[in-house]
Amino acid sequence: MKTFYVTTPIYYVNSFPHLGHLYSTLVADTLARYKRQCGYDTFFLTGTDEHGQNIERIARERGVTPQAHCDEMAEAFKGMIRDFGLEPNYFIRTSDASHHRGAQALWRRVREAGYIYKGQYEGWFCPACAEFKEEEEPGRPPLCELHNRLAERVAEESYFFRLSAFQDRLLAFYRENPECVRPASRYNEVVSFVKSGLKDLSISRVSVRWGVPVPEDPQHTMYVWFDALSNYITALGWGNEGEHLRAAGISEGSIFERYWPADVHIVGKDILRFHAVYWPAFLMAAGLPLPRTVYAHGMWLSGGRKMSKTLGNVIDLAVLRRFFSRDVVRYFCLREMVFGEDADFTYGALIERANADLADGLGNLAHRTLTMVQRFCAGSLPEISAKAWGGYEEELRATVEATIRAFVAEFEAYNFSRALEVAWGLIARGDKYLSDMKPWDRARRPEERARVETVLAVVVRVLRVLAVLLAPVLPETMRALWAQLGLAGEPARVNPLALEFEAPMAGVRIGEVKPLFPRMEKEGIMAEIESHSRLEASPSSWITIEEFARVDLRAGTVVFAEKVAGADKLLRLLVDIGETEPRQVVAGIAPYYRPEELVGRKVILVANLQPRKVRGIESRGMVLAAVVGPEERPVLAGFVEDVPSGARLR
Ligand code: MSP
Repeated sequence: MKTFYVTTPIYYVNSFPHLGHLYSTLVADTLARYKRQCGYDTFFLTGTDEHGQNIERIARERGVTPQAHCDEMAEAFKGMIRDFGLEPNYFIRTSDASHHRGAQALWRRVREAGYIYKGQYEGWFCPACAEFKEEEEPGRPPLCELHNRLAERVAEESYFFRLSAFQDRLLAFYRENPECVRPASRYNEVVSFVKSGLKDLSISRVSVRWGVPVPEDPQHTMYVWFDALSNYITALGWGNEGEHLRAAGISEGSIFERYWPADVHIVGKDILRFHAVYWPAFLMAAGLPLPRTVYAHGMWLSGGRKMSKTLGNVIDLAVLRRFFSRDVVRYFCLREMVFGEDADFTYGALIERANADLADGLGNLAHRTLTMVQRFCAGSLPEISAKAWGGYEEELRATVEATIRAFVAEFEAYNFSRALEVAWGLIARGDKYLSDMKPWDRARRPEERARVETVLAVVVRVLRVLAVLLAPVLPETMRALWAQLGLAGEPARVNPLALEFEAPMAGVRIGEVKPLFPRMEKEGIMAEIESHSRLEASPSSWITIEEFARVDLRAGTVVFAEKVAGADKLLRLLVDIGETEPRQVVAGIAPYYRPEELVGRKVILVANLQPRKVRGIESRGMVLAAVVGPEERPVLAGFVEDVPSGARLR
């Protein structure tokens, strides 16, 4: 039996799951369902990436052990999988003992092959990304754009991976395997990155404890990406006894030979380099086969920007689950985003698509057809009659067969949104056929009986084909449609590669006919989402009292204010917060406040914000303001009663 191995990235446990996380898993789940349907012995892996300095720090800040933090977060990700009905074969956690053993085995293999050596690393490191950053100006810490924080200087003994030795081998591999990185634009990016030269990679830290200890030198902890990437093989039992697989009811200890190399690693484009450069190099060094494809998808944006907790624009999964069905979310994600490109997420677009494509499109075609089968055929699927079969029917059958071929081809090429467009082309054809043939009119004339039955039998076959093709995308509703059609078994068990228009269906009694997708009232639901998001902050946005207490808020008095030369929006303020010197702060409020009206005014200052340079001026804090109206006008926060400068806010 042919096998198929698909993975998602394992999720950092530094934030609760949001739509971006769901998306990688949802795509992998859809692919896995499709391949299972096509008869492949399929393994779909997901899990959590739990190690590193960042996690150590978050746990410390929360006052819990790293393990306790990770246990809680792993549950949150498992919860996402349950809530959205995703069906991975295994969920790996990098804190599992079996994973540790596997990662150490990989390290030993690479070391024994001569590709790991000890040296001294000095560089700029962003703990939030767990990544070293390039120095831009000599001696100055680079700013991590993603986390809006300055990188930290790190100098320590470190093990290095001889990445530089793999430049030519990687380039040869890319040349011989043009599908190893997809889409093509990403392939080109990776090739030119490698062509520009590869430096050896620091792959251990002595200052981090929470991670996989380096074998034979446990003072060192593995660099989190060496550890994390190896999950794709340790999960299959490579380098360990596979006891985790037995415990999960996957009876064989190791299934590595069965599934490796992976058919596809689904990843976001932000982590492509790790998967398309470092990971193949580690595997080459260990003498292991390389994954067939790394597919990099785009980012879900919200309000035009990448979703992030800091920006506060993440799409909350609890809101999605509360207001939308799982299948609607799946459909929207796969239809709206051209796989590989970025897309904007809005609830409005989700509701519009759900109404137009699902309720009015697929749902309506199924409902009106089956209602007519009830009314005109006494609830039994009718037969095609040779005498009513004409050119129109012949054309429709050809369309169905072309749709099956095109849908499968697009799916195989990871063009999910195109595949769905193709399927919806068939829905439109089915609709038009019904409107042209008007079986409801003909049903009044007994001599047209064969014609009415044939028309309905043709559309019922269209629905059957759609149920099979769409089963990986809409598993629950297509199962429901199958039952309404009165068919035995499940659409997920019908192989789309062998699917045909013809099917013995006549005489089958249909099931209870119900709308598959309710229409949604856009304005009402949008308003409900809005008030829900405001009133019920979900657990993913809660912070603990300890986390809040880390923000040092002070009452301050503005003692000086002036415009920043050459910047329309900025004012330079000096704010007295009871320290020996007033604080210099740069604030983007110039269009709304004149400098002279600010002097003497009480403000609230975030006093322990990391200093940063704005237009060459060091800003040591931030004044708080409400953001009002669509133009986001800042209104400074202050006090009604008098407070001394320096008073703490709690
Ligand atoms: N832990 C690493 C992966 C290690 S794999 C050996 C990691 N984790 S992550 O939790 O930060 O991201 C997991 C996946 O979610 C990535 O593929 C990332 O691209 C994806 N997404 C996170 N935010 C996203 C969007 N806003 N949109 C789409 N996917 C994005 O990286």
